[in-house]
Amino acid sequence: MPPAGSDTAGGLHVAIIMDGNGRWAQRRSLRRAAGHRAGVRAVRRVVESAPSMGIGALTLYAFSSDNWQRPKGEVQALMRLLREFIPSETRRSVRNGVRLRMIGRRDRLDPGLVRSIEKAEAATSGGRALDLRLAIDYSARDQILRAASALEAEGATRESFDRRLATAGGLGDGYRDVDFLIRTGGEQRLSDFLLWECAYAELYFTPVMWPDFTAADLETALAEFQRRQRRFGQVPESSAG
Ligand code: FPP
Repeated sequence: MPPAGSDTAGGLHVAIIMDGNGRWAQRRSLRRAAGHRAGVRAVRRVVESAPSMGIGALTLYAFSSDNWQRPKGEVQALMRLLREFIPSETRRSVRNGVRLRMIGRRDRLDPGLVRSIEKAEAATSGGRALDLRLAIDYSARDQILRAASALEAEGATRESFDRRLATAGGLGDGYRDVDFLIRTGGEQRLSDFLLWECAYAELYFTPVMWPDFTAADLETALAEFQRRQRRFGQVPESSAG
């Protein structure tokens, strides 16, 4: 039986590490920021097609806590894109029944960006078609440490820790195990993304650079997920005995 938190009744929880924007731009002799801008278009394609593909929750790694160490100009470009994206995505989300939320630290973000995130979260809270979570200034280790430091010395269970983890990430009651993790751009690592939630996630790595990622690529990835046999550490029934 799947562990708590992996109930897929509300659709799959798919998480995506959107890698390859910089290389996509460099191959076209463009600035890295142009790759990120093209990446936003890929975000829109994926968000639009996700609900019709059985995805109930989608977590996108938009900016990791380690990304602060990138050159200042690139950080500014990414923050500018987020400041543009959130208000326009809020309107689109309300229309399409998408609930938009953010996971990660808010205290180091521009206050204007935090306000637009809060507005987006309030305006889209009734969305049921898709639970869209944007990871911004996000570090799984940091989130786990926060949850652990809030933990009482006794009485912790998997479920109570899941709840604390969701709270530490900024989600309140929204804990979900990841079912399927996709990483574009050819690298095969987790880069401090949803380490706890991915305990039993199926992993999928594709060489496609994120700005080139289409709805058809998402469909191909999901078809591969459907072929996987999820065992959650157990043996298939046919082999039992
Ligand atoms: C990794 O590519 C990608 C990022 C660090 C940022 C992802 C951001 C976006 C897709 C755009 C902003 C998102 C939203 C939701 C508005 P990389 O730059 O590390 O690429 P590289 O490995 O080729 O250098």
